[in-house]
Amino acid sequence: MKVLITGGAGYIGSHTAVELIEAGCRIVIADNFSNSSLVAVKRIRSITETEVPCYFADLRREETVTRIFRNERPDAVIHFAGLKAVGESNEHPVAYYDHNLGSMIQILKAMRTYNCRNLVYSSSATVYGGEAEMPVMEDAALQTTNPYGRTKKMIEEMLMDTSGAYPEMCITALRYFNPIGAHRSGLIGEDPLGIPNNIAPFITQVAAGRRGYLQIFGNDYETADGTGIRDYVHVTDLAKGHIAAINKGAGRNGYHVYNLGTGYGTSVLELVHMFRLVSGKRIPYVITPRRPGDAAVSFADTSKAERELGWKAELSLEDMCRDSWNWQQKNPAGYRSEMIMEVETL
Ligand code: NAD
Ligand code: WQD
Repeated sequence: MKVLITGGAGYIGSHTAVELIEAGCRIVIADNFSNSSLVAVKRIRSITETEVPCYFADLRREETVTRIFRNERPDAVIHFAGLKAVGESNEHPVAYYDHNLGSMIQILKAMRTYNCRNLVYSSSATVYGGEAEMPVMEDAALQTTNPYGRTKKMIEEMLMDTSGAYPEMCITALRYFNPIGAHRSGLIGEDPLGIPNNIAPFITQVAAGRRGYLQIFGNDYETADGTGIRDYVHVTDLAKGHIAAINKGAGRNGYHVYNLGTGYGTSVLELVHMFRLVSGKRIPYVITPRRPGDAAVSFADTSKAERELGWKAELSLEDMCRDSWNWQQKNPAGYRSEMIMEVETL
């Protein structure tokens, strides 16, 4: 099977690229590198010892997407490309609708034109909002609280309509919970530009001394230690969930939705504690007020993915923290580390 991975140079896309190649698929990456690095593609090539075709492409552009489909004729698409920062989406909502909806529309048009019938889409637990009962199941009511979340929900609706009109297609939306960790080699990982929005890269940068302390957003939630609870899932497990979905999609039709998480929650303080254990470093923190829009608790019911896709997360919180720390240590400035080293050796 030949799989087009949009956003394949990004955090989840790069890990999925590696797992797909190791599962025997041929892949093609398309990315505009707005939030990623060419070094990631180079590292995917070195981990898998495979030549990976890669297009520098803005997927909002119809002629660009058409050219990729015309040249590559993929059997399936995994669509990761898009913008993903909640705070930024409040400041720049139009950019979020433009990139997220725009690229999805062009991909769907090209899939119709080139008779490509198997699509896996990166959705998010953010579509459940903050009020759902936990663990949350896929049929819970959707409720979004910011433009980013609304793009995810709108795209799910777009996909449902598309599936209704073209029943020969198989469209799968995967709702990720909180992906953290990195490839066990330490060659690829999460490489946020600027100040990290998410907790795991923030903690590793504190442990590494790049930042002074972590701010814990609230310790007055109704949880055992008062801090927020999330379902952290290892990015390699998540990547394997895509392989399960794409394989299943090759043999069926319709629109399907799955939660991808571990099924258990971890508090911010428990996460900090685990990072401290695996790194042996101090992780100073201060408690600050709650971050607006944050849910107290979010974790998945993953029984549907287990039952229908035969997928279950296998790696532990310790694995996630150890692999994040390994990536941070080997790449103190993320992918820029490699470029800095190359410049230094000139
Ligand atoms: P990422 O930013 O690392 O990867 C997204 C990639 O898409 C980047 O490489 C970026 O350069 C590319 N891109 C953005 N706009 C593009 C465009 N118009 N054309 C071509 N490429 C474009 O993010 P990620 O964490 O790997 O997330 C991948 C997907 O998963 C996103 O759709 C995100 O919304 C979704 N998701 C992520 C998380 C998370 O916590 N990381 C959770 C739930 C869902
Ligand atoms: C996790 C926990 C914070 C940072 C976001 C998006 C979601 C999805 C995943 C894309 C919370 C606390 C955080 C910090 C902290 N992305 N925290 N100090 O908010 O669960 O989910 O990323 O789809 O849509 O909303 O993840 O990593 O930001 O926060 O105390 O500096 O850590 O309050 O309890 P979140 P996160």
